[in-house]
Amino acid sequence: MPNREDIAAMRRQYGEHGLIEVELPANPIELFNTWLNEAASNEIVVEANAMVLSTEVDDQPTSRTVLLKDLTDQGFTFFSNYDSRKAKQITKNNNVCLLFPWYPMERQVIVIGSASKISEAESDNYFTSRPRGSQIGAWASAQSDELSSRAELEKRYAEFETKWPEGSVIPRPDFWGGYVVNPISIEFWQGRYSRLHDRIRYLRVKDNNWQIKRLNP
Ligand SMILES: Cc1cc2nc3c(=O)[nH]c(=O)nc-3n(C[C@H](O)[C@H](O)[C@H](O)COP(=O)(O)O)c2cc1C
Repeated sequence: MPNREDIAAMRRQYGEHGLIEVELPANPIELFNTWLNEAASNEIVVEANAMVLSTEVDDQPTSRTVLLKDLTDQGFTFFSNYDSRKAKQITKNNNVCLLFPWYPMERQVIVIGSASKISEAESDNYFTSRPRGSQIGAWASAQSDELSSRAELEKRYAEFETKWPEGSVIPRPDFWGGYVVNPISIEFWQGRYSRLHDRIRYLRVKDNNWQIKRLNP
């Protein structure tokens, strides 16, 4: 375990290539796609599509990791249990934040926006594409509820496995589906030398019009 001096000394030199205004696309989704593709092909980055989703209810923020599963002009899509803690929070307050931590690339993207459920047909489409084990897992897990033991979860999994034998079509549970986070702000952070990092924030002005601002690091 590192001691306090070791932790304070943790520091690395950041890259030279930064974010330059003349090279920035007008639409941040385009830049995000470039960065996501670069993260996906970087062998040190694990789960390039993992993002930290933060919600806030009654002045108490909470965070957890979810996987980005679609990206369109509507926004960033992830899938979850509609009865989970995060889902209950989103029902109360759908203003959320997403953070992509691509540390090995000295990059971070922060998305602020509002989450809403995607259509049932879209959720069905994605559910059908999932491996059978994940489909049964979605049925077996009352996500975020207290569990008496691991055995209880495995028992429920086995029951659903019996209910839908190999080869049968497993329907999507109505308590499971997708959310899309429609962004109002997308901030790109690129590490640079001497802590003079680049921070570029796109703010949605209207529809697909974005204002670009450079921020102090
Ligand atoms: C790498 C990684 C990916 C995850 N992806 C998802 C996901 O796509 N959807 C999901 O509901 N939970 C996912 N989880 C689990 C969540 O982080 C979290 O434990 C769960 O959704 C319950 O959160 P809640 O109680 O705040 O609702 C993932 C966890 C990790 C570490």
